[in-house]
Amino acid sequence: MMNSMMDKDRYIQLLKMVLIDLHHVEYGEYKPLYGHFMWRVKLVRAINSLISSADIAICKKIEPNMQKRIEGRDWPGYADTMIGLKRIENLEFCINQILKDNVPGDFIETGVWRGGASIFMKALLEVNDDHERVVWLADSFEGLPKPDVKNYKADKGDKHFAMKELAVSLETVKNNFSKYNLLDDNVKFLKGWFKDTLPVAPIEKLSLVRLDGDMYESTMDGIVNLYPKLSVGGYLIVDDWGAVQGCKDAIIDYRTKHNITEEIIPIDWAGVYWRRER
Ligand SMILES: C[S@@+](CC[C@H](N)C(=O)[O-])C[C@H]1O[C@@H](n2cnc3c(N)ncnc32)[C@H](O)[C@@H]1O
Repeated sequence: MMNSMMDKDRYIQLLKMVLIDLHHVEYGEYKPLYGHFMWRVKLVRAINSLISSADIAICKKIEPNMQKRIEGRDWPGYADTMIGLKRIENLEFCINQILKDNVPGDFIETGVWRGGASIFMKALLEVNDDHERVVWLADSFEGLPKPDVKNYKADKGDKHFAMKELAVSLETVKNNFSKYNLLDDNVKFLKGWFKDTLPVAPIEKLSLVRLDGDMYESTMDGIVNLYPKLSVGGYLIVDDWGAVQGCKDAIIDYRTKHNITEEIIPIDWAGVYWRRER
């Protein structure tokens, strides 16, 4: 039970550091080998299976880089979110504003990975004694889809589906919520491809939509199905605007089609957001 504003503030500040694992960056990280150099990955996996009985594994050494973590430019080995300090602070700003102005509606993140950003949403509701709003997590919990080039030319050549480190199971994400004692009935999971889950999701109203699905199709599925449910005064956050051209194109296409003219505000090199005005 947190009594004072100071306790709440300290908890939130600490939680941000822990969720992005900022307090461990200085030690560097050792990660399993993923990625495009398949022959190297295969060789290392073969060696690892030979030496695993001795509890030894070959890993990639990642040098400490505080700036990258602050800007959410790395895929952390241990953090529960990859959005970095600037984008987690933006989430805090938007939620505080929503609660201050009593903007009606639930929160949703489309593309949750290990769940850290959604965990932070739930924590902010808890410290503000808001036990009504639901935090929705939409994800395949199996990584990204293969590009559907017939319908979405902008995704041609997209390789996110091959990145196994982006596939985090539902069980792991639920477990991550439990570690912070934040899993309850007001945290709801939409498991499956966005194109299947979002059109039929039993969501009435939203005050925060955080799109983090990287690709054109994933971003488009998110905004098409969720923006009409976003209250005036609510926020739309786009995580990958500056990182993935297809994501930016999807947002521009949707805004043009629906004549959305609210100013797009940059968060950092990748993320942007706007507040719905009409
Ligand atoms: C970059 S990660 C999200 C990072 C996360 N928001 C965080 O805080 O670290 C992208 C996520 O989107 C999910 N995803 C992308 N496109 C999807 C789609 N069309 N349907 C379902 N899940 C999708 C992936 O499974 C992955 O978990």
